[in-house]
Amino acid sequence: MSSNDNNSAYSDFHLQFIAGEWQKGKDDSINTNTNPYNGDTLVEIQQATKDQLNEAYDAADQAQAEWAKQTPATRAAVLYKAVHILEQRQDEIVDWLIKESGSTRIKAMVEFSATRAITLEAATFPNRVHGEIRPSNTPGKENFIYREPIGIVAVISPWNFPLHLTQRSIAPALALGNAVVLKPASDTPVTGGLLLAKVFEEAGLPKGLLNVVVGSGSEIGDAIVEHKAPSLISFTGSTSVGKHIGELANGGEYIKQVALELGGNSPFVVLKDADIEQAVKAAAFGKFLHQGQICIAINRVIVEDDIYDEFVERFLAHVKTLNVGDPSKQDTAVGPIINEKQVKSLKEKIAKAQEEGAKMILSGEIDGQVVPPHIFTEVTREMDLSRNEVFGPLVGIIRAKDEDDALSIANDSMYGLSSAVFTADMQKGLRFARGIRAGMTHINDISVNDESNTPFGGEKNSGIGRFNGEWVLEEFTRTHWISMQNEPRDYPF
Ligand code: TAP
Repeated sequence: MSSNDNNSAYSDFHLQFIAGEWQKGKDDSINTNTNPYNGDTLVEIQQATKDQLNEAYDAADQAQAEWAKQTPATRAAVLYKAVHILEQRQDEIVDWLIKESGSTRIKAMVEFSATRAITLEAATFPNRVHGEIRPSNTPGKENFIYREPIGIVAVISPWNFPLHLTQRSIAPALALGNAVVLKPASDTPVTGGLLLAKVFEEAGLPKGLLNVVVGSGSEIGDAIVEHKAPSLISFTGSTSVGKHIGELANGGEYIKQVALELGGNSPFVVLKDADIEQAVKAAAFGKFLHQGQICIAINRVIVEDDIYDEFVERFLAHVKTLNVGDPSKQDTAVGPIINEKQVKSLKEKIAKAQEEGAKMILSGEIDGQVVPPHIFTEVTREMDLSRNEVFGPLVGIIRAKDEDDALSIANDSMYGLSSAVFTADMQKGLRFARGIRAGMTHINDISVNDESNTPFGGEKNSGIGRFNGEWVLEEFTRTHWISMQNEPRDYPF
């Protein structure tokens, strides 16, 4: 039951949210939204047409200028109200995360907290955004640097942390005076968009500022990016689609800024002086939270030779104790995979790992979309498990000769999102961390960390741009240099 006493549970999730109205999609195709654990149909959504997408952009365009003129206090108030509504509706939201995205209860709570935190952080942005005055070398000139809303932000979000990864784009965008057109992932249209539209509508956000268009990425994705209206495309998802979006945004008729949060291949390094017990627990949580379907999940466990065997033995024993299955149960650690396509890809990865010579020391029967943890040892840096993002509950453990070898393996990747190192020596940990080419490294903790006031993002094929705090504040505004010539200037001709 929802802890929200004042309002009934949200409904009408079969509709699109365009120009502040809940309206039927006009496309012939239907998105059948199912529970990945038991296959129940949750809602059927008639998808949006390109005309409806244009309508959403028109509405955003009409609403944005007026919103940008509102006082910081007015914009902040909507965000604070949204925080309050999220809190009131926590049970309802957690329930949706479990049934729509296959989140375990633990993961749903982690996601809810992160969503609340970024909304609260965004509520401070209207009052934190500021310009600068810079000296001039031209006599009589004053230089002002204004920071203005960027205009319309197109947001395309994924299914794994749908609520949070959507909100961390739309809350800052709205707080900073922008309007948003959002396309959630087809697997999570409710938690990735429609539910947040309900929250902002209830919070009193003026009509047209947030539009949620439900449609397939392959059908309307290009049109979202190529449309004249958005100045920024904020995309979170796979590296392949991210590259395509980058090309479209910079190779088409209209050039746009892009913020790309893409795939990862996080190394989790255990050096020989580490607290093994703590490293084992961290590795299990950082790998198997949300079945490993997190861009910053541990993808490669790299252990120094001296402690490799002991680590493997203790890790195996610990992972065997994890409960697998129904995500709604309080003590389930590993729930279902989001869809059959992803399950198929994991089956292929299991077969490939064995073909390549990795030793499978833990496996289990795949039941529907529930894939139990699989552990592989004697994995090398060349194998598929090391080279590519797994996005599932399979893990390879790589043996490193020594600390230098561990660092070399950690950096041997096309990706550079998050990473982690375990050691008893903090100075060594810091030195090691600074040697890693990634956007984020955590010493004596997992690679899965996200705080609303610290920069989140990656490099290499993991994308461009940063979320949270001052970093997103800069990303979702534009810089405008305005100079004022206070006395006549002496021109050469
Ligand atoms: P994608 O297939 O890339 O889907 C992400 C979003 O892009 C969805 O909304 C999808 O819509 C849309 N999309 C698909 N094709 C498009 C196109 N041609 N134009 C515009 N939009 C398009 O990723 P996925 O399979 O859902 O997620 C798994 C991958 O995303 C993993 O590699 C993972 O690492 C990465 N990921 C990264 C992060 C961060 S923070 N870096 C977070 C989550 C996931 P449809 O659902 O309708 O296809």
